[in-house]
Amino acid sequence: MKKEIYLIYKYYCKEYKLSDFKTKKLWNIIRPICYHKEFLTRFKPPYWHHDNKTLAEHIICDAIVTYKIITKPKLKKHKDIDINTTILIAMFHDLYEEPWQNNIKFKYKKIVNKHGFIHPIEAITNAITWFPQYFKDEQITFKIIDGILHHMYPLPVRALDNTKMELNNQQKFDKLSDKYKKMIEISTKIGKVGSLSFRKSIYLEGRILSKADKIVALGKDIKSINGLVALISGKNKKLLKKLK
Ligand SMILES: [Fe+2]
Ligand SMILES: [Fe+2]
Repeated sequence: MKKEIYLIYKYYCKEYKLSDFKTKKLWNIIRPICYHKEFLTRFKPPYWHHDNKTLAEHIICDAIVTYKIITKPKLKKHKDIDINTTILIAMFHDLYEEPWQNNIKFKYKKIVNKHGFIHPIEAITNAITWFPQYFKDEQITFKIIDGILHHMYPLPVRALDNTKMELNNQQKFDKLSDKYKKMIEISTKIGKVGSLSFRKSIYLEGRILSKADKIVALGKDIKSINGLVALISGKNKKLLKKLK
């Protein structure tokens, strides 16, 4: 399986024309995450993310495009940009709990609790739970949290208030230490209107991933009208046919 994962990674590096040197450098950062048992499940059905690309493939493509952007000579002038943190935001940004397409569980949710709005909170909850080693430094942790929570901008993210969020990993969220919950609350309070927070990340690292995410999704991931419609409806007829 590990060899297969590396070949998938190399395939996408070629597709996005990442140099051999950068392919090696990036692999050193993302390898431990790719080989984690929870991450491995995202390489397989039913974790389709956009059309027939799996969630793990989507995340890897985001990491590659993010790395290409941050290592451009022009951006290197931003000497304070933290490459590792930016890549971590890419690797964790969509690490949500449940496959989102054609999932019957989702139809009972309140509008503000729909997948599009809550999946960044599920993602950061899973990331902290599965990869605690990356969340030791407070400043870096807040940067990662803020980048993940607001990656869907201009779409908003669910804000933490005293209403029920209907997270698919609510138990894991409840077990998070208060310091992380507080950071999530602070990050979603800024720009809050009702139960949603409308803003981009405060940090360049988060904004770069948000840009890469759109390049990947709209450039190569979504290849059909069904895939586009699924972004709004949560249902992808083409995928249903494929699974029959
Ligand atoms: Fe997302
Ligand atoms: Fe994404």
